[in-house]
Order: sequence, then C-alpha cells, then structure tokens
Amino acid sequence: MQPKTRKRVWLIGVPLVVVAGTAGFIWGGVYNVAADDMHTKPVHFLLETARERSIVSRAGRLDVPSGLDDRTRIVQGAGNYAAMCAGCHLAPSMAETDLSQGLYPTPPDLSKHKVDVAKAFWVI
Ligand code: HEC
Repeated sequence: MQPKTRKRVWLIGVPLVVVAGTAGFIWGGVYNVAADDMHTKPVHFLLETARERSIVSRAGRLDVPSGLDDRTRIVQGAGNYAAMCAGCHLAPSMAETDLSQGLYPTPPDLSKHKVDVAKAFWVI
C-alpha cells in the first residue's frame, strides 16, 4: 500500500470505525442504565465530571440572593425542606429513609454535607 493511501485509510477508516462502533454500542442497548446496576468507573467519571462542570459553569453566572444564612429565612424554609427534600436528603437526627438509601446516585445528607451556596442555589 502506498504511504498516501495508508494515511487516507487511517484518517477516514479509523474515525468511521469509531463512530460506527459507538453508534452500535448505543443503538444496541449494550450499556445498562438501570439505577440498581452501578456505573462502570469510566462512565461514572464521565457523568460526574459532566454534572460538576455543568453546575460550575452555570452557578458562576448566577446572582445569589443575599441573606440566605439569615436564621428567620432558614426557619421559614424549614417546612418546605421537611415536605419536599428531607425524604431524600434527611435532616439533623433523622433516620435514613428508603429514598436516602435506595437512590443511585445517593442523595447527600444535607445536614452533614457542606455545599457551595451558588452551586446549591442553582441545583435547587
Ligand atoms: C427523590 C429524591 C430527592 C429529592 C426529593 C430532592 N433531592 Fe436533591 N438530590 C437528590 C440526589 C440523588 C442528588 C445527587 C445528584 C448527583 O450526585 O448526581 C441531589 C442533589 C442535590 C444537591 C446538590 C448537592 C451537591 O453537593 O452537589 C442539592 C443542593 C439538593 N439536592 C437540594 C435539594 C433540595 C433543597 C430539595 C428539596 C426542594 C431536594 N434536593 C429534593 C435527590 C433528591
């Protein structure tokens, strides 16, 4: 094979094989996305990095309201937190729930897990 032809085979053939292989992998339903089947390390890394980078880039553009650590506001929001969030994220001295234990990824226990204010505000 001529060097020019060999170069063409590499430049066109390899990307074609990679694209066709990836498409076959996805279309064939090879990867199990069920929440009761742990992700492989590379997929976990990919998803976690995509999630973290997505949050960081958007949270950085937010104007976070001031006074979020004001005690009165925290007490006002406590009822909403108990109704909408505690089932997954727990609260101080609250026992684990089916949701806090059974989800994948596991919801962080927000009574113990410190979160950056801007990131948390964007996520919520
Ligand atoms: C059905 C369960 C569920 C409910 C209800 C829920 N969350 Fe979550 N939350 C999760 C899970 C799971 C994650 C982790 C996602 C991940 O790691 O990819 C998460 C992530 C978060 C995070 C990001 C934490 C971090 O360190 O990045 C915040 C903040 C948060 N939730 C706040 C809330 C608030 C406030 C509410 C109520 C308004 C709420 N969540 C309701 C399951 C839940």
